[in-house]
Amino acid sequence: MGTLMDFVPLQSQRVVLRPLNQDGDLDAYASWLNNAETTRYMASGRTPITTDELRDYIRSFARAPDGILFGMFDLETETHVGNVALQTIDWHDCRGEIGIVVGEPSARGKGYATEAVGLVVQHAFTQLGLRRLTAGYVLENTGSARLFEKLGFKVEGTLREHFLLEGEYLDCARVGLLRSEWPGIR
Ligand SMILES: CC(C)(COP(=O)(O)OP(=O)(O)OC[C@H]1O[C@@H](n2cnc3c(N)ncnc32)[C@H](O)[C@@H]1OP(=O)(O)O)[C@@H](O)C(=O)NCCC(=O)NCCS
Repeated sequence: MGTLMDFVPLQSQRVVLRPLNQDGDLDAYASWLNNAETTRYMASGRTPITTDELRDYIRSFARAPDGILFGMFDLETETHVGNVALQTIDWHDCRGEIGIVVGEPSARGKGYATEAVGLVVQHAFTQLGLRRLTAGYVLENTGSARLFEKLGFKVEGTLREHFLLEGEYLDCARVGLLRSEWPGIR
């Protein structure tokens, strides 16, 4: 029987999304999550992460009925530069939550995240039949804010003092995109 991870690689101009190999080299991936600058606005990275834990994490998606982990690769160099997750899919309400990390600093600020999340939005709306996608970010994370805004996500609310960073409780945004307002199907 097929699983949610059985998808044809999703490709845009510069990135390709495909499943991660749990038996592959995960050293680079582990190094992102053990880098305080990368995880500054993420819940990951508060304790050191090992490659074995990452293997378990990847494996957990293999048969999960409610989530997909997309490895993000530079199309030209085939380098693993980040991940996008579509998770906590609720098949009754037809919605899911998106999370993203562009781990390789050299791959940031080039539009890769926008392309990758755009591919996942398209997959969710056209292949999976979802009708609502959500995401969240710390308000100070201007890269995330701009990325979701560019893709048409609307701010739906503020979670006050939701995220503790360096002794300060920071506000977070919740954003959402409906299939009916997504320009891709017009
Ligand atoms: C946030 C993150 C995903 C953005 O990825 P990215 O590949 O740099 O994003 P893009 O290049 O697609 O940029 C999207 C928009 O955000 C802007 N942007 C990106 N990083 C920015 C920053 N640090 N400050 C201000 N704007 C930024 C870009 O300029 C672009 O807007 P523009 O087209 O109007 O110029 C990436 O920086 C990252 O993974 N950070 C660490 C992990 C993280 O915080 N994940 C998100 C948790 S919600």
